[in-house]
Amino acid sequence: MGGAYWVAELDGAIAASALWTYHQLGPSFQDREGHVGLVCGVAVHPSARGNGLARLLLAKLDEEMRAAGLTHAFLEVVSSNAAAVGLYQSLGYQGFDLAMLKPL
Ligand SMILES: CC(C)(COP(=O)(O)OP(=O)(O)OC[C@H]1O[C@@H](n2cnc3c(N)ncnc32)[C@H](O)[C@@H]1OP(=O)(O)O)[C@@H](O)C(=O)NCCC(=O)NCCS
Repeated sequence: MGGAYWVAELDGAIAASALWTYHQLGPSFQDREGHVGLVCGVAVHPSARGNGLARLLLAKLDEEMRAAGLTHAFLEVVSSNAAAVGLYQSLGYQGFDLAMLKPL
């Protein structure tokens, strides 16, 4: 098992964060070869956005996940979050499977 939680500092204060950990995907991934990392906690302080911090942290996560022997990175994002969707797509993430929800 493993993973890492990275932060980026600007002027001595934490301005961005991202983490990865090992992840067990369900049956929709079972027919593929490989091991999956879960990426979450991606956030950049509003005053620091648009400067490439998220791209920098996610590149670091990719590097570590590859070094750990993982073959895929997985994350969840709501489709209305245009900044995050744009970020992830620019880094090679694509839509995968179907999420479902109902009120109880
Ligand atoms: C999503 C978020 C992490 C992006 O952080 P950021 O440091 O501003 O992103 P970067 O500067 O590294 O941008 C990298 C790429 O992301 C995409 N991107 C960033 N902001 C975007 C926006 N507002 N709209 C569309 N694409 C955007 C672009 O492709 C950008 O590359 P470019 O600058 O060459 O065009 C930041 O907006 C944030 O913290 N949002 C609130 C928390 C959140 O929603 N986290 C994701 C949860 S799944």
